[in-house]
Amino acid sequence: MENWQELEHKLFMQTIKRLPVTLVRGKGARVWDTEGKEYLDFVGGWAVNSLGHCHPVIVKALTEQAKTLIQTSNQFYTIPQVQLAKLLVDNSCLDRVFFCNSGAEANEGAMKLARRYGKLHLDGAYEIITTHGSFHGRTLATVAATGQDKFQQPYIPLPDGFINVDYDSIEAIKAATTNRTCAVMVEPIQGEGGVNVPHDKYLKEIRAWCDEKGILLILDEIQTGIGRIGSLFGYEQYGIEPDIMTLAKGLGGGVPIGVFLAKERASVFAPGEHGSTFGGNPLVCATGLATLKFIIDNDIPGKVKKLGQYFIADLEKLKAKFGFIVEIRGRGLLLALKFTDNVAEELVLACLKEGLLVNAVKQNTLRFIPPLIITEKDVDEALGILEKVLARRL
Ligand SMILES: Cc1ncc(COP(=O)(O)O)c(C=O)c1O
Repeated sequence: MENWQELEHKLFMQTIKRLPVTLVRGKGARVWDTEGKEYLDFVGGWAVNSLGHCHPVIVKALTEQAKTLIQTSNQFYTIPQVQLAKLLVDNSCLDRVFFCNSGAEANEGAMKLARRYGKLHLDGAYEIITTHGSFHGRTLATVAATGQDKFQQPYIPLPDGFINVDYDSIEAIKAATTNRTCAVMVEPIQGEGGVNVPHDKYLKEIRAWCDEKGILLILDEIQTGIGRIGSLFGYEQYGIEPDIMTLAKGLGGGVPIGVFLAKERASVFAPGEHGSTFGGNPLVCATGLATLKFIIDNDIPGKVKKLGQYFIADLEKLKAKFGFIVEIRGRGLLLALKFTDNVAEELVLACLKEGLLVNAVKQNTLRFIPPLIITEKDVDEALGILEKVLARRL
C-alpha cells in the first residue's frame, strides 16, 4: 500500500503537524483509517461536520446538484444560492448576504464592508477593534485582526487599521475607540483562542457602545454559529443583534462555504466593489441549504443545548475525580477542559490510540467540537475513553 504519510512529508509545505492517522471513510460521528480502525470523532473537521460524516441529506443534495449544475459565474442568477440566502435571512436578524468560500474570506469581506461603511458614513473611519486571543483567519488582514502574536509575528508588517485589545473588557474597547474606528469585531465565544467565554453582559455592553458611537458591531460566528452553542446563532443567547455576522464551518456540513450577512443599513457595497468566482456556487449552496434546513427543521440547536448540559455534567464528574483538571469551559457542543500542565497533546495521542479524536486547542486545554448529531451514548463513550486515559496519569 502507498505510504501516504511519507508522501505527504515529501510533497507538502509542512504548515501543520498532523496526527499519525490517514482517514479514508466516515459515517455519522465515526471515521475509519487505512487500517480499518474506527474512531469516535469529537473534532468534527474542526467544528465543520455539523451533521456528522456523509449524512444522507447532505449526500443526496450534493449528488443531485452534481448531476444538475455545479458552477457558473456570478454573472448569472442561480437558484440554490438564492434559496440558501432566503433561509439565512428568514432565520436571522440580518437582511443581506454575500457568499464566499471560507471563514477567513467571510471575515475579510465583512471587514471590507465595515471600511466601506466608514468611508461613506463615518468620515473615512477605517480602524477595526478586535480582541486578544481571537482567531479570524489566515489572510493578511484577518491575521492582523487575530489578536495572537504567534499568528502575527511571522508576517509583520501587517495591514494597518487593526487594534487588538483585551477580550471580555468593554473598558478596553472604549479606550481604543477613536474617530478612526469604524467597527468592533468579536467572537461570542473565542474558539481557537481556547474556548473563552466572556461574562454574560459583554456583548450587550459592546452593542450599546457601538450604538453610542455609531460604529458597526461585527460578530464572527464562524465557530459559534449554526447551532454549535445551543442556538442557531450565538447572538440569540445574549439579547443583541449584530450589524454584520460571518459564518462558515458548520453551514456547509463539510463543503467549503463562507458567508457574511449585514443589516440593510450596513449593506453598503456598490456593484463591483466585492466579488468571488466560486462564492455561492450551486453545488456548495445546495449542500448548505440541505444542511441548514435539516438543522432548523429538526431543532438541532435545542438538542445541542440539552446535550451540552449533559456533557458538562459528565465533565464535572471528571473534574471532581482528577485534581489536574482546573476548568471546564464553553457552551453547547463547543467545550473545553483545562489542565494544570501542558498535557493536551499527549492526551490527544493517548485518546487516538483508544479510538477517540479530540483536539488540543492549547497546550494545556482539550477542546470538544463533535458533530451536532451525537447522542448521550456517544458522550458517555468518549468520556469513558478520556477517563481511562486520565486515570493513567493519577
Ligand atoms: C472564529 C473563526 N473565525 C475564522 C476562522 C477561519 O476560518 P477558515 O479556516 O475557514 O478560513 C476560524 C477557523 O477556525 C474561526 O474559528
